[in-house]
Amino acid sequence: RCQSTSTDEKTNKSRNVLDNASNLLTNFLSGGSIGSMPVAEGAVSDLFGKPLFFSLFDWFIEHGSVYKLAFGPKAFVVVSDPIVARYILRENAFSYDKGVLADILEPIMGKGLIPADLETWKQRRRVIAPGFHTLYLEAMVQMFANCSERTISKLENLLEAKNSQGEHEIELDLEAEFSNLALDIIGLGVFNYDFGSVTKESPVIKAVYGTLFEAEHRSTFYIPYWKFPLARWLVPRQRKFANDLKIINDCLDGLIKNAKDTRQETDVEKLQQRDYKNLKDASLLRFLVDMRGVDVDDRQLRDDLMTMLIAGHETTAAVLTWAVFLLAQHPDKMKKAQAEIDTVISEDGITLESLKKLEYVRLIISESLRLYPQPPLLIRRSLKSDILPGGCKGDKQGYQIPAGTDIFISIYNLHRSPYFWENPNEFEPERFLVQKDNNNIEGWAGFDPSRSPGALYPNEIVSDFAFLPFGGGPRRCVGDQFALMESTIALAMLLWKFDVDLWSLSPEQPSILRTDSSANSRTDLAEKIEFSSTSHVRVGSVDMVLDVIELRSLMFHKH
Ligand code: HEM
Repeated sequence: RCQSTSTDEKTNKSRNVLDNASNLLTNFLSGGSIGSMPVAEGAVSDLFGKPLFFSLFDWFIEHGSVYKLAFGPKAFVVVSDPIVARYILRENAFSYDKGVLADILEPIMGKGLIPADLETWKQRRRVIAPGFHTLYLEAMVQMFANCSERTISKLENLLEAKNSQGEHEIELDLEAEFSNLALDIIGLGVFNYDFGSVTKESPVIKAVYGTLFEAEHRSTFYIPYWKFPLARWLVPRQRKFANDLKIINDCLDGLIKNAKDTRQETDVEKLQQRDYKNLKDASLLRFLVDMRGVDVDDRQLRDDLMTMLIAGHETTAAVLTWAVFLLAQHPDKMKKAQAEIDTVISEDGITLESLKKLEYVRLIISESLRLYPQPPLLIRRSLKSDILPGGCKGDKQGYQIPAGTDIFISIYNLHRSPYFWENPNEFEPERFLVQKDNNNIEGWAGFDPSRSPGALYPNEIVSDFAFLPFGGGPRRCVGDQFALMESTIALAMLLWKFDVDLWSLSPEQPSILRTDSSANSRTDLAEKIEFSSTSHVRVGSVDMVLDVIELRSLMFHKH
């Protein structure tokens, strides 16, 4: 065994030597590199005051869709071109790993799908992806609706309580409310655990938020001090982080044990027949335990659950917050959505069929993801030297990159690129219905909804990688349909009951959700507003969403 390891090491070393040699040779033959990549010199001041990806956009317009950003000794390549993104994510996907992202997430997610090494990923993806079967999603629709109803009742109760005190205003951090909603949904859908976070606080919920907060801190701090051996004991916030992780892990371990202890052959049969409707527990955990048998590795299961808890939570909260924020500024679009919702939703509830009819609401969700993608960047590191293909606008030549190159694929830049979108900064959900051909954009197949028949939402296939809120290629988001369906249902139910309105309390916080607790539906509300227009709920801290994705420290990491 020892010998074979050292043989492996030798093979790896000789591979590296070969890689380097081929790099040198290619550089020599091409006179330095294949096309000399434009370089944007970053000033340290660019790292402060605004999220990094805003600067990345300015440099994209200035330097083109593939450029090198150098900050002192560290450099990385920024990609804002669909052809190049498609190449890295899909065509040559296995020549890249998650680089610094994996370094940051590994302490939290272990070998979960997002940071997993290639071998683990291949094995786990094969097991997890079938869990998100269409029939599973169908079975989740009612749960999405029930959880949304809890949030709506909470807003109504809060308003009612205020009204009874003669006050007609409440201030509410809507992003936090959507976070609670998304946490409850992910808990129930993935491991049949009701966090109940919309209505109460618990140590587990606090621990989940603590962990998210630490992940954010680590992605924005310059020196990875948490890697020092004693940091875990000496630094209070690291002690807290270790404690938070323990609380969540204990909770997940308990759920896994319970799922294994309660495994029943009759459930396995139902799962095999995809008979989710007649299962008491249709969660993904049940699927993973039942379909794989009791011998599935607990540690790996826990990493998988933790990954989905983190990956499927703030992302969904963000899209809902931004959708409300955008609708508040576009009352005409809100009215159009409400007209659609009124014809689809009834007191009987919402089904998969209703979701299919909510076309405009689905487009609103997609358009919110286009304007405010979360995450705004995908991170990769090249495992070997490679040649990036020429892009479709301006950058016709390919570029040589050495092994170990850190790459940011800017989803934000792609989604707001003036080359692929008309009025890229405008909120126009209707844009996704219009086919856009590639007359003047070489190499890009254009935007064509018919390219993905049957898909309820636009995706990277219809846009040939100009729209990729869920990434693309083999490491594409595994929970995309889950997230899209829950967001559509939550938004539709909210708009059915409430108006979202621009209240202009202050220029910083312009968007307001206005309602009246005594109205039974939005239609009643429209009349009530005439008489009592002072009840409203304030949309809080949308800027927070942008802050979460700052990635300043990454540039100073060694590879
Ligand atoms: C991966 C976005 C919701 C689970 C990804 C990736 C993106 C993304 C862009 C690709 C990352 C990369 O290539 O580096 C989103 C957005 C969501 C969302 C915008 C909500 C609006 C969810 C939900 C779940 C989930 C609800 C689980 C229930 C995952 C997992 C991966 C992933 C496990 C890793 C997939 C792999 O590497 O095989 N997500 N996601 N996501 N997402 Fe999501």
